[in-house]
Amino acid sequence: MEVIKQVDIIREQINALRCSGKRIGFVPTMGALHEGHLQLLRASAQENDITVCSIFVNPTQFNNPDDYKLYPRTMEQDIELLSSVGCDILFAPGAEDMYAQQSLLQFSFGALEAVMEAAHRPGHFNGVATIVSKLFHIVQPHRAYFGQKDLQQVVVVKQLVQALSFNVELVCYPTVREADGLAMSSRNKRLSPVHRQTSVALHEALQQAKQKLLQQQPVVSIQAEAMSYLQSKNEVEVEYFEIVDADTLQPLESVQQGQEIAICIAAFVGPVRLIDNILVNLN
Ligand code: PAJ
Repeated sequence: MEVIKQVDIIREQINALRCSGKRIGFVPTMGALHEGHLQLLRASAQENDITVCSIFVNPTQFNNPDDYKLYPRTMEQDIELLSSVGCDILFAPGAEDMYAQQSLLQFSFGALEAVMEAAHRPGHFNGVATIVSKLFHIVQPHRAYFGQKDLQQVVVVKQLVQALSFNVELVCYPTVREADGLAMSSRNKRLSPVHRQTSVALHEALQQAKQKLLQQQPVVSIQAEAMSYLQSKNEVEVEYFEIVDADTLQPLESVQQGQEIAICIAAFVGPVRLIDNILVNLN
């Protein structure tokens, strides 16, 4: 695997690869790789001639300076993992390279801005849209791989690709979980052993809510019961627990047969903010 840090060098490589007819799969990440990332990389390696992974802890998408500072950085281990799953090129730029000048671009995603991550992390998706646009321009992938774990990110990036006519096919893979159900996340590395045990409550709350939706219980009471379940846990602070339309991510007051629904949560467990979601198809 080749490790490239400079934008002009990867551009040259990509141009040569595209000229020789290679199909390029791309997995953008912030590193501290785990099985959730590796699933995307394996899929890309299988479905494309060349797989590019980027590792860049993007400062513009963090609205909390501590979260940025404490974000795990495990480059050596990441390089080993990437080699083991058939990644061909790691693009690992520095912040000076990606943001030689401060970006003043402002994106707006309409109704998506009013809900969940966008509502609780001002500027987050502006940072995501900026870096994903830059990376798409630099890597020029035929396909790009994202995880359902960050459902709102998938919907925002879909809208971005559509709005700016990026010539890239988006592929979304399901959330990879630990044995007890906790969604894998780079931030899990920051959980103390006690908080790690507590954190399974997020997935439990989602599962319970899913069962109640399938039993046609009212949305308001499902939400209230989830909140009181989570509040009963030590050091869990819920930011939101939403039952939303899976395409628009707008909150639902009631649900209908045939609807695709997402149940989404963000909560602090101790000092660490975690998100998770599950999809429910009401057939
Ligand atoms: P990061 O959190 O590193 O995630 C990189 C990709 O891995 C994202 O598409 C994310 O949804 C996916 N992923 C993370 N955990 C997962 C899990 N448990 N199961 C399945 N997929 C999982 O998301 C970002 O980085 C950044 O916002 C980025 C897109 C790189 C822009 O900076």
